[in-house]
Amino acid sequence: MFETLQSQPADKILALMKAFREDPREEKIDLGVGVYKDAEGRTPVMRAIKTAEKQLWECEETKSYVGLVGDPGFADAMIGLILSDAVAREAVAAAATPGGTGAVRQCLEMAKMANPDVRVYVSDPTWPNHLSIMKFMGIETHAYRYFDAETRGVNFGGMIEDLKATKPGDVVLLHGCCHNPTGANLNTSQWKEVVSVLQETGATPMIDIAYQGFGDGLEADAEGTRLVASSMPETLIAASCSKNFGVYRERAGLAMAVSQDSGAKMLNQDTLAFLNRQNYSFPPDHGARLVTMVLTDPALRADWEAELEEVRTGMLELRGQLAGELQRASGSDRFGFLAQHRGMFSRLGADAALVDQLREQHAIYMVGDSRMNIAGLNARTVPILAEAIVKVGI
Ligand code: LMR
Repeated sequence: MFETLQSQPADKILALMKAFREDPREEKIDLGVGVYKDAEGRTPVMRAIKTAEKQLWECEETKSYVGLVGDPGFADAMIGLILSDAVAREAVAAAATPGGTGAVRQCLEMAKMANPDVRVYVSDPTWPNHLSIMKFMGIETHAYRYFDAETRGVNFGGMIEDLKATKPGDVVLLHGCCHNPTGANLNTSQWKEVVSVLQETGATPMIDIAYQGFGDGLEADAEGTRLVASSMPETLIAASCSKNFGVYRERAGLAMAVSQDSGAKMLNQDTLAFLNRQNYSFPPDHGARLVTMVLTDPALRADWEAELEEVRTGMLELRGQLAGELQRASGSDRFGFLAQHRGMFSRLGADAALVDQLREQHAIYMVGDSRMNIAGLNARTVPILAEAIVKVGI
């Protein structure tokens, strides 16, 4: 029967990771996959996570199952981090998931259970795996305009116009912060306008928040999500701990369903538990437990927040340096947007042929749509990248 299988298109980001690994050139620079790297190119275990891990090793007495939706303490800690007191805890149903991708999948599953004909509106562009998952699930997707190829900012007029076409039963997928792949984000008044359009059309927002703390800070990065969740009757939220806690391979994430109707919580909670059971039974616990320990122990939390802030400001500095180098190398201000973008990514706005040239001629790896991971740079490689960008004629 296996002969009936058809080969699937390779995930572009993961294929790039492989190509980079196999490239023998010593001077190669990896600006591909969204993994944080320090100035030495390492992805360290964060200090507070390491300490929590030691403590856990000392005190953990069993590896028995936890619960279908994971440890409620994890959900409480993450809901506090993301939503603070924007909505009552009673309004939020939540289930731990394997990473942020697991949370995206479970939120979409829940939307599809609620409306088998659900249409999901996604930003153009969005994280490619959003589209791939929805295609696999047979969910119809529609793009709303988002990235302005000229300014490299948000085409907000286009976005609003497209969102006005949504209707009740539709889902609108939004990036909570640090838009992947563009780095172009909504400001507060734009978030408010998105909320009022969705309130008018009756569509349900779903927020993917995978980079809280990487943009303007932990609180500022959650502002849009809090505004949406407190203003809309229902909101789905998929959160990842991979990046901001650096626990990528542990697979820690949380799917949330917020409902202002207090009577809905139990059904929402049961639905998320059912979905976990159908898809993988119990979610992974190790990473979630470490995150819970870090968030609930004041000393560990302070250390984590301090390290996360170093990561964030380090990326901001790299943005400033790169914009400056490009200004020098190109003699123009046309790359100023790099300093305005926030998060791990920026979309340069170059076509695939130029991205290929950067890889082939300069051993610089970025995703084909010209998304680059700013954290892949350091003080030494910033000028090398700037020279190469100008040389290939971007
Ligand atoms: C990325 O966008 O590079 C990350 O979210 C990693 C992934 O799984 O694609």
